[in-house]
Amino acid sequence: MTTAQQLSFDVQHSDAARTPAERERVLAAPGFGQTFTDHMISIDYTEGRGWHDARLMPYGPLTLDPATSVFHYAQELFEGLKAYRQAGGTIATFRPYANAARFNQSARRMAMPELPEDAFVESLELLVQTDRDWVPTTEGHSLYLRPFMIATQPALGVNYPSKTFKYMVIASPAAAYFSGGVKPVSVWLSQEYTRAAPGGTGFAKCGGNYAAAFVAQRQAVEQGCDQVVWLDAFEHRYVEEMGGMNLFFVFGDRLVTPDLTGTLLPGVTRDSILTMAADLGLTAEERKISTDEWREGCESGELTEVFACGTAAVITPVGSVKGAEGGWTVGDGTPGKLTLQLREELTGIQYGTRPDPHNWVHKIC
Ligand code: COI
Repeated sequence: MTTAQQLSFDVQHSDAARTPAERERVLAAPGFGQTFTDHMISIDYTEGRGWHDARLMPYGPLTLDPATSVFHYAQELFEGLKAYRQAGGTIATFRPYANAARFNQSARRMAMPELPEDAFVESLELLVQTDRDWVPTTEGHSLYLRPFMIATQPALGVNYPSKTFKYMVIASPAAAYFSGGVKPVSVWLSQEYTRAAPGGTGFAKCGGNYAAAFVAQRQAVEQGCDQVVWLDAFEHRYVEEMGGMNLFFVFGDRLVTPDLTGTLLPGVTRDSILTMAADLGLTAEERKISTDEWREGCESGELTEVFACGTAAVITPVGSVKGAEGGWTVGDGTPGKLTLQLREELTGIQYGTRPDPHNWVHKIC
């Protein structure tokens, strides 16, 4: 349960922080998730005591007993959000309370303790304030924040979940997630593997979902595609999501996205796009969409654009589709007009160059 427990952070600065020149070298070409800032957050949890030992500390390795529960049973979850350097130098993040709420939704499914939302947001603020020089100034770049929680009890029994946990936040300067930027990606429809079934962990942002996805993602690459698209567990017919990202289908001025039935991730970007669509006078529907409707829509010209969305990927066009029975192109294979318009609108809000009518931007420093 989330408690109103007040946490105060002990602050220990790194005496081995990278020099400005070393940092600039990293920021010149940050890639994605490859280099980490000088500090990290750690908060421990013990059943019966609650959250304790909240710390900002130098970034570095952890020492864990080989029997630690997370190594064996993957009791783990994470979040992903970004800090943006806005016009005028302000550093802001985007809807961090939405991530905090999803973190706790994942925690409930994974039999892990909830972290008070304010502590979640404060931990991000403290890390970003401390490592603010790591927030890139290059247009389109950002500081990717990765809060996560692991089960730390050294025990092999599976009769009861871990009684101790560690929450952490690490931060990594990031360029575009896909090296092509807004270049359309090609996708492989996975009919052999299933990501999630009703009652499972599909809606939770837990590491196990991603571990189980690698084999299908590898197959997608072997098929010459960039990304895997997951289909429903029963018929392998209805679209669920792309590897770690939600999908939207554009029929003229109508957006369609798979509905949240418990098997796909309730993306914060997905939710923001649904709200922005209404602002832009577009109709948005959350419903099932089959691969047949996808293919037929593209063949008839009724389905004009498809895009993926997520914190890391922002909004990325999907240009072509391949499955066991052949493939097809979406539109003319180039980024669609609405895809680019929504991307500009969203990044404009995030980088502070467009109005923020829903107060999504959360200023940090
Ligand atoms: C994100 O968009 O933050 C994600 O979690 C995707 C990630 C698995 C790279």
